[in-house]
Amino acid sequence: MRNMKDLIQDLDVIDTAGVEQCEIKVSPDSNSGHTRKLYIESYGCQMNFSDSEIVASILAKEGYDTTSDIDQADLIFLNTCSIREKAEQTVRHRLKHINGFKKRKPTLLVGVLGCMAERLKTTLLEEEKMVDLVAGPDAYRDLPKLIHQVDDGQKAVNTFLSREETYADISPVRLNSNGVTAFVSIMRGCDNMCSFCVVPFTRGRERSRNPHSIVAEAQALFDQGFREVTLLGQNVDSYKWSEEENNKARIEKKGVSQTINFAHLLEMVAKVHPDLRIRFSTSHPKDITDDVLHTMAKYENICKNIHLPVQSGNSRILELMNRGYTREWYLERVNKIREILGEDCGISSDMIIGFCSETEEEHQDTLSLMDIVEYDFAYMFYYSERPGTLAAKKLSDDIPLDVKKRRLNEIIRKQRLHAEKSNKADVGKVFKILIEGTSKKSDQHLQGRSSNNKVAVFEAQNKNKGEYVNVLITECTGGTLLGKIVA
Ligand code: SAH
Ligand code: SF4
Ligand code: F3S
Repeated sequence: MRNMKDLIQDLDVIDTAGVEQCEIKVSPDSNSGHTRKLYIESYGCQMNFSDSEIVASILAKEGYDTTSDIDQADLIFLNTCSIREKAEQTVRHRLKHINGFKKRKPTLLVGVLGCMAERLKTTLLEEEKMVDLVAGPDAYRDLPKLIHQVDDGQKAVNTFLSREETYADISPVRLNSNGVTAFVSIMRGCDNMCSFCVVPFTRGRERSRNPHSIVAEAQALFDQGFREVTLLGQNVDSYKWSEEENNKARIEKKGVSQTINFAHLLEMVAKVHPDLRIRFSTSHPKDITDDVLHTMAKYENICKNIHLPVQSGNSRILELMNRGYTREWYLERVNKIREILGEDCGISSDMIIGFCSETEEEHQDTLSLMDIVEYDFAYMFYYSERPGTLAAKKLSDDIPLDVKKRRLNEIIRKQRLHAEKSNKADVGKVFKILIEGTSKKSDQHLQGRSSNNKVAVFEAQNKNKGEYVNVLITECTGGTLLGKIVA
């Protein structure tokens, strides 16, 4: 069996060739004395990583400890991603490897969770014979029952998508936690129907989580020593919650029932404690409001960084993508961010090149938009057609692979220059850094992030993780700032 490091290294090699990015997380060891062991490997986005924490919590109540050693596992879950074809291929390869384990240990139970489970449903059981259990993102409460079903000798499937499920009452078991930063899911699903995207099909309708449960989770994290929460949703700007809509007793405030939007929610979480930092992802260019920007400006502990995926710099392509904004609209939002939050507010993006019918000139528009915005960071992909999406039904995936790869390399190259320029401009500045732990390369050094999401490494000087320090930036490498603690 190849270990996880080799697998990730393989993916990195593919990544530098500009083909794919994929993050994989493995459950850590927990020892609360349970005899049964759960091994979860999570793929894809932060939402999936967060969901694995919900799954671990549900199964802890069923008597499972988590393990990082697949050999020890009684139960193996792969929490999967369908966003691009490559993501699904990676999981299929992994399932082939796991098949070997299953042969040696017939009592082993193997389940597929997440977006691939939702997309492929029962066909997954037919195609991957050793999979015993398939559960979609809204079916995790049902896992104990599904596991019993498998124990009784049946295959088990639940891919029902809910309009209400937010797992609001489940307190996640923090996996892979540094004890300082944590993710808090504030909504599920997506109603946007971007034409390239599989998420609305795998995660279902958008629904917002009760804000009081979000604030309570943030408070509990702070009390446990955490100092940063990232609020998660596919489009946080469409967060919307009211007692009335959620079928509870109507709350009347001056005669109208109060609806909590994302700006209100941000403020509620920011007030938990001034030492608790707030981040959020993902903002949608069509929906991000000035109110959100003003709320960010009002609270020092709301981090000055916005992930605002543009996808393309060309308005015709954006329309084909069904993104709901134009190049001009996007640039106006960027100007507003800089006007309200200043030049130091970090802005990052996701970009897809080689979308259906994208011409060379239209690709140039993405490059020129990058020159205007100068992103601090970006995830970059070439278009991968996903079955069932609007684009797959109506448009032709007609850009040849070699052209896609060349265009992708062009944007990657430009992005590297911009990131380098942005880091160089930070030399000489002092940043307030939240320490997240020791640096990967040396025990003598600590690392943490600035409000605008830059990673800084500096000498420890008796400081510990979870503390805030002021760091003077003295040098930078490609992706990291180097500096020293100052008063
Ligand atoms: N909700 C977020 C994105 C979630 S998916 C948003 O609206 O921005 C993360 C990223 O994957 C997307 O921003 C997009 O850049 C990329 N992506 C999604 N579908 C893709 C596809 N079919 N091919 C290539 N990249 C894709
Ligand atoms: Fe996909 Fe668009 Fe929803 Fe993002 S906003 S998850 S890209 S459909
Ligand atoms: Fe992948 Fe599903 Fe997230 S498709 S990116 S795991 S929402």
